[in-house]
Amino acid sequence: MNARAERSIEWHATIDSTMRRAAELARAGAAAGAIVGADQQTAGQGRLGRPWFSASPGGLYFTMILRPRLEAANLPLVTLTLGLAVADSVQMFTGLPCDLRWPNDVLANGRKLAGILTQMHDGAVLAGIGLNVNQPDFPEEIREIATSIVLETGTEHDKHFLLRAIAGGIETHVNILETSGGAAILRLFTAASSYVSGRRVAVELPAGETRGITAGLTPEGFLLLDTEAGERITITAGGVRPLA
Ligand code: BTN
Repeated sequence: MNARAERSIEWHATIDSTMRRAAELARAGAAAGAIVGADQQTAGQGRLGRPWFSASPGGLYFTMILRPRLEAANLPLVTLTLGLAVADSVQMFTGLPCDLRWPNDVLANGRKLAGILTQMHDGAVLAGIGLNVNQPDFPEEIREIATSIVLETGTEHDKHFLLRAIAGGIETHVNILETSGGAAILRLFTAASSYVSGRRVAVELPAGETRGITAGLTPEGFLLLDTEAGERITITAGGVRPLA
């Protein structure tokens, strides 16, 4: 039996959040590659403390437990690696071209197709993925900014097939990070993302919104921004929004 056939997948019809359950499993010593998924979440968690809309069973919601052979300081690079893996797998298995918005939003035709939440718990990395697969529509408040694979391609896709494809893609890309190092991931991310350089954006920072032009990535995986005030700053966290 190969490693993929042995993968542990705990599937729930409804759960509060796969992040919470995955943290429990990580604490109990779950192996790398273990997955918790659900058809619906009642308290889906997004980045920056935001909720993640998880009411539709058309979405794919899962958390994968990773135990990368890396220092905790490399977590920002793991975050980029996960975005690359999801974009790459979706493109490969659905034919839908994807873009990446730092740090790891997966976009299709400028709208958000997948969100990724990375957390560390008890020495494990929890990779939480919310991928919009078969939703025919979204609630009013996110309709203009969200999209799904079926809306973009006109074809429904099997969520469980995509789950296994993405899990394999994550393992491949984490392996690239472990063996070839951060520079390889930074090169791949830069090639796959229209947001890394020369893009006019607004960034939400604790001190307020800052506007500028993106100017590449640091070796740690942070985003450089040439601000309208003429400074070059490093963005280590925050939400990036495109400006015309
Ligand atoms: C983002 O804000 O872009 C990240 C969203 C991550 C959502 C996924 S859905 C599966 C997993 N469980 C959660 O509660 N959140 C993540």
